[in-house]
Amino acid sequence: MKKINHLGIIVDGNGRWAKERGLSRSEGHKAGAEALRKIILYLSHEKLVNYLSLYVFSTENFGRPTEEVNYLMELFLKWFTTVKKEYRNENIKIYFSGRKEYLRSDIVDAMNALENETADNDGLVVNFCLSYGGRAEIVDATKNIVRKFANNEITINDIDEELFAKNLYHELPDIDFLIRTSGESRISNFMLWQISYAEFYFPKVYFPDFDTKELDKAFKEYESRDRRFGKVK
Ligand code: FPP
Repeated sequence: MKKINHLGIIVDGNGRWAKERGLSRSEGHKAGAEALRKIILYLSHEKLVNYLSLYVFSTENFGRPTEEVNYLMELFLKWFTTVKKEYRNENIKIYFSGRKEYLRSDIVDAMNALENETADNDGLVVNFCLSYGGRAEIVDATKNIVRKFANNEITINDIDEELFAKNLYHELPDIDFLIRTSGESRISNFMLWQISYAEFYFPKVYFPDFDTKELDKAFKEYESRDRRFGKVK
């Protein structure tokens, strides 16, 4: 199989999945979390990708009803606390990307603890984009660069694409393959810098139903793509 270095997933359709079943949106998110848990372990065991970036909460998602935001925050808190030991033993390394300053301090503490606990691992890297916006990431990288310039650590001529990429939230390779579940075909501000040459895939299935079979289908699709990176073969 053609190896995917960096896979991105925009998690979408939890709410519609729940609505179709007469369940609450919270129950949709709970089912989405369970689907996510299985996908992460599958990718880690089968060594199918090196990096996995997941869009689980955008800066815009703070505008959802308070009850839903609160439910998601509790879900994140519980999840990040319970997977700590498991992920350390599974050799999974966790990153978080996003503006932590918008999040509750107990959640930030749990995120930091999970990052620290898995910092020495060298297996699958899972990058959770939480309180995340692609434009915000570019703005924050620009601020880092301007700060370095002001401190005389770099000159104008040092600024190129490589230096810019190093000043993003984490040093991650470009995304090769981006999946958005639920049939929506838009990017919604996800990793704008890193998706420049990504292949896109928009399966109709809602995220709670996105299982390992669906993932294998997606990988088959990726295999059929002819990536030329602007060149001629
Ligand atoms: C999008 O579906 C989903 C979210 C905004 C939340 C994603 C969260 C999870 C999968 C929960 C667990 C994650 C972790 C890390 C514990 P939607 O609600 O926008 O669906 P809709 O468009 O059908 O309403």
